[in-house]
Amino acid sequence: MYTQTIPAVPLADFANDIRAGLKTSGQKELPSKYLYDEVGSALFEVICVLPEYGLTRADQRLLRRHAQDVVSHFQGPVIVTELGSGSGRKTRWVLEALCRRQATSYYPIEISQSALARCVQELGQLSALSIVGVERPYLDGLLEVAARRRVREHLLVLFLGSTIGNFDREPAVNFLKEIRRILHPGDGLLLGTDLEKPIRDLILAYDDPLGVTAAFNLNLLGRINRELDGTFDLSAFEHVARYESAHRRIEMHLRSRMKQEVSIPKANLEVDFEEGETIWTESCHKYNLEEVVQMAKASGFGCAAQWLDGEWLFAENLLIAE
Ligand code: AVJ
Repeated sequence: MYTQTIPAVPLADFANDIRAGLKTSGQKELPSKYLYDEVGSALFEVICVLPEYGLTRADQRLLRRHAQDVVSHFQGPVIVTELGSGSGRKTRWVLEALCRRQATSYYPIEISQSALARCVQELGQLSALSIVGVERPYLDGLLEVAARRRVREHLLVLFLGSTIGNFDREPAVNFLKEIRRILHPGDGLLLGTDLEKPIRDLILAYDDPLGVTAAFNLNLLGRINRELDGTFDLSAFEHVARYESAHRRIEMHLRSRMKQEVSIPKANLEVDFEEGETIWTESCHKYNLEEVVQMAKASGFGCAAQWLDGEWLFAENLLIAE
């Protein structure tokens, strides 16, 4: 089964967020969620197969290897939901492990309609699985899914790929608390976290020699041009990925190569750029294992297990609501 709910991001919200992020006199900033339109989602799929970007493959290996361990933590029927399912490729293993036991429902929550469609196509063939796509922001979607659970069912929330790393550290814990509030004791959150590693590996992962990540980042300006009639000249900006040691995160920016002015009519906006000025488009925080245990504790979970990949420093953490 597949049903579609409320449409994702209304154009007015996009315009408002762009205006708020670019109007400021300080550091210009755009929310990273806007990187994932049709083109951005396709470029991200390519990033995931780049040799320099080991994150997604590590996530996949861990899920394949430990799916059985994950589901063995839950007795009885389990509803699976996923925050940002993307293509759904990684999720297959956990769903298969559950379906071997009993009929299972899967609710991918995803604001990208095209990703949701691909996810349903990828997983639609699993028998004993019913899929209901939820085209909503994460917490809205999670509330909707939680409202559908029956008494004896446990919820297992998947938040994979280190998407948590897009949040600053304090907001990340607050976000985990919000998830916890929607769950019952004994429910699970499977959290993927990219770990600290040598800086040169991180820089290569986010500034690959083929320029795919650069294209992914620059596409945000292309999207503004397409959807809001912006006049960004993409060749007048360059992709920057830098490691901020104080915050233990990669920051992605778009740096203006020259002094210039850009207009974005549908956001009712004229923006000035100095030469060298940047728009901050994404943060990707890196973690250590102990810190994830602490984050779990601070948000009302116990960390029941951590699985570490042998090739790329990445961990799958199984948190259980207390
Ligand atoms: C999907 C947010 C986990 O932070 O590594 C990849 C996004 N940005 N390359 C990440 C991303 C540039 C990715 N997440």
